[in-house]
Amino acid sequence: MKKKLIIAIDGPAGSGKSSTAKAFAKYLNIPYIDTGAMYRALTLKVMILNIPFKNVKQIVSLFKKTKIDLKGRDPLKQKVFLDGKDVSKAIREPELTKNVFHVAQEALIRREMVKRQRQLGKTNGAVMEGRDIGTMVFPKADYKFYFEAKPEVRARRRQRELLATGKKVSMAEVMKDIQKRDKTDIERKEGALRPAKDAIRLDTSELTIPQTIDKMTALMKPSHVRAVNS
Ligand code: DC
Repeated sequence: MKKKLIIAIDGPAGSGKSSTAKAFAKYLNIPYIDTGAMYRALTLKVMILNIPFKNVKQIVSLFKKTKIDLKGRDPLKQKVFLDGKDVSKAIREPELTKNVFHVAQEALIRREMVKRQRQLGKTNGAVMEGRDIGTMVFPKADYKFYFEAKPEVRARRRQRELLATGKKVSMAEVMKDIQKRDKTDIERKEGALRPAKDAIRLDTSELTIPQTIDKMTALMKPSHVRAVNS
């Protein structure tokens, strides 16, 4: 029987989590779970329904009736569905990105989210990326990685991502945005961004995705890499 491996990857925006986590899940042939996409999808629903972000209890009860699915076997082509509708593009809009923190900062909402994420990971194992995976969602994950990168590298990556979706933003603007997101991520009361005590810290500034994956697999038990990748 395959071992249900849980690999937690946490880190700030632009640290290289998403691209590496997708490629790593594909390499290991296990599910990829983008927890940020789940916070984004719920935020989209709150925005569509025009619910004030301060109505936390209303948002929690709405969330309980909301379906959020990550679909597609290939992690590189994964789609996000909200109540059956493909919202993969809508959840990446800058206007939405600015608002996710309202939802992500509320402990009551996070607890519901964490429950779902545990359920998703438990079924088939996962490479799960986010901010609190190693500290809150799976404190007993088989492996915990915490990604970091130099501010200018993170900003350049973010700028490139935006450009790929047709949005031209200056380096100064991207830097400012990243600093703001870091602050809200770090200062949150519950589920704050921080490395778990037993996390392996990786600076990805000078690394390509294959080089990052090489570093990760080198730190894993060969039987774990083989067991899932066969
Ligand atoms: O990784 P991302 O940029 O798609 O995340 C979107 C937002 O969700 C970001 O503001 C941080 C928040 N988030 C969180 O609070 N906890 C997670 N596990 C994942 C994301």
